Amino acid sequence: MANDHTNIPNDLSAFWMPFTANRQYKKAPRLFTAAKDMHYTTADGRQVLDGTAGLWCCNAGHARPKITEAVQKQVAELDYAPAFQMGHPKAFELASTIRDIAPKGMEHVFFTNSGSESVETALKIALAYQRAIGQGTRTRLVGREKGYHGVNFGGISVGGLVNNRRMFGQHLNGTLHLPHTHLIDKNAYTKGQPEHGWELADDLERMVALHGEETIAAVIVEPMAGSAGVIMPPKGYLERLRELTKKYGILLIFDEVITGFGRLGSSFAAEHFDVQPDLITTAKGLTNGVIPMGAVLATSEIHDAFMTGPEHMIELFHGYTYSGNPVACAAGLATLETYREEDLFNRADSMAEYWQEALHSLKGLPHVIDIRNMGLIGAVELEPIAGEPTKRAFNAFLEAYDKGVLIRTTGDIIAMSPPLIIEKEHIDQLIGTLADVLKSLD
Ligand SMILES: Cc1ncc(COP(=O)(O)O)c(C=O)c1O
Repeated sequence: MANDHTNIPNDLSAFWMPFTANRQYKKAPRLFTAAKDMHYTTADGRQVLDGTAGLWCCNAGHARPKITEAVQKQVAELDYAPAFQMGHPKAFELASTIRDIAPKGMEHVFFTNSGSESVETALKIALAYQRAIGQGTRTRLVGREKGYHGVNFGGISVGGLVNNRRMFGQHLNGTLHLPHTHLIDKNAYTKGQPEHGWELADDLERMVALHGEETIAAVIVEPMAGSAGVIMPPKGYLERLRELTKKYGILLIFDEVITGFGRLGSSFAAEHFDVQPDLITTAKGLTNGVIPMGAVLATSEIHDAFMTGPEHMIELFHGYTYSGNPVACAAGLATLETYREEDLFNRADSMAEYWQEALHSLKGLPHVIDIRNMGLIGAVELEPIAGEPTKRAFNAFLEAYDKGVLIRTTGDIIAMSPPLIIEKEHIDQLIGTLADVLKSLD
C-alpha cells in the first residue's frame, strides 16, 4: 500500500523487478517520482541528471508538453481500436511519418509494442519472406556474439550475451553467431568508428561454406551494439556484411532499437553509416519512452512478396492486440514532431564533438581501460575487480546516483546516452561527476 506522505511504498516485496538485483535494491531502493526535461526527481526530493535518456528511450527529454498533451487528448477521444481487420487514422499517419524519415527504400511499417517484439517480428518476416519467394530451405538465423536483441526466444537465440541465454534451454534451432567486434587490445580509445575488425564480417562466408547459403535466411546485428557496452562497428564492417548478405541471398536486419531516432546524430544508423538493410527494428525513441511501442520497417520488395493470393485472405499471420494502439500512435506522432520542430537529430550531431572531448578527458583516471563514443552515446570501460566482475561498475553507478547523475552499467562498462536536448553544462556535470566517482572507487 502506498504511503501518501512520503511517496515511498511500504511493501516492496510483490514487485519482481526486471533486470535488477532485487535483494540489493530492496534494501536501499532508488525511486523516481517525477521527471522534467533533463532531470528526474527522487522520492526524497533530489534532482538527478538523466545521463541515459531513461533506458535509451527519452530522446527528447522528459515530460515534453506536446507529447503529454497528445496522449491526454487521445486517451479521452479514442482509447483503443481493434488492431486486426480494423484501423484508425493515426496508425496510418504515424506509419507514413516514420517512412518519411526512414532510410530510402523502407516503405512499410509493422507496429509492435517493444524492441523485443520488433525483433521477433523481423525474424518471423524474414523467415516467411524467404518461404514466400520459394526459398523455404532458408531457415537459419544469424546473430552475433555480444548482440542484444531483447529477451524473447528469437531475440535470445540470435543474441550473444551469455547471462541472457544460459538459463533458458536450447532456444531456436539452427541459429549461428558471427564473432563480436569488441577488440579492446587493438581499438582502445578510438573516437568514433575503430580501424580494426571489419574482416570479422567474413565469418559469414565460413558459415555459408559449412552450412550452405540455401539454409540461411537472415543476419541480424545492431549497427552499434548498445547493451553489450557500446561497441562501434569497425570501419568497413557493415558495408562488408551488406556485400556478403547480398551475394548469398541473405536478408540483413539492423536492430535499431537504440540507434533509431537520432542517437547517432542521424535519424537511423543505416543512414549514418550509409548501409541499406532489408529490415529495421525500432522501439524506444519512437514514442520518447512515454507509451510502449515498437515498429519494424521493411522494404517494398519484402512487403510486396506477401501481397499475393485471394484478397480476402490475411497475408501475414502475425500481430499484437496493441499493434498501432491509438494512444501509442498519438505519442509517436507528437514525439516525431518534437524531434522535427527542435531539430534534435542535428542537435545531437552538433553536440557530438563536445560530448566526445568531455568523455575522452576521463582517459588516465583510475581503472579506466577504454573509452568509446559516437553521436550522443558513450562508454567508459573499467578494469574489473579481480574475482568480482561487474562490481566496480555497479559501485560507480550507485555512487553516481548518490552524487546526482544517472548512468548505466553493463558488466564493467559504464554506458551513457543522454537525452538529445542536453546542454554543455549538463555534459560538464555528468562527466565531472563521473570523474569524481572514478577517483573515489576501490
Ligand atoms: C538493440 C536492442 N534490441 C532490442 C531491445 C529490446 O527492447 P525492449 O526492452 O523494448 O523489449 C533492446 C533494448 O535495450 C535493444 O537495445
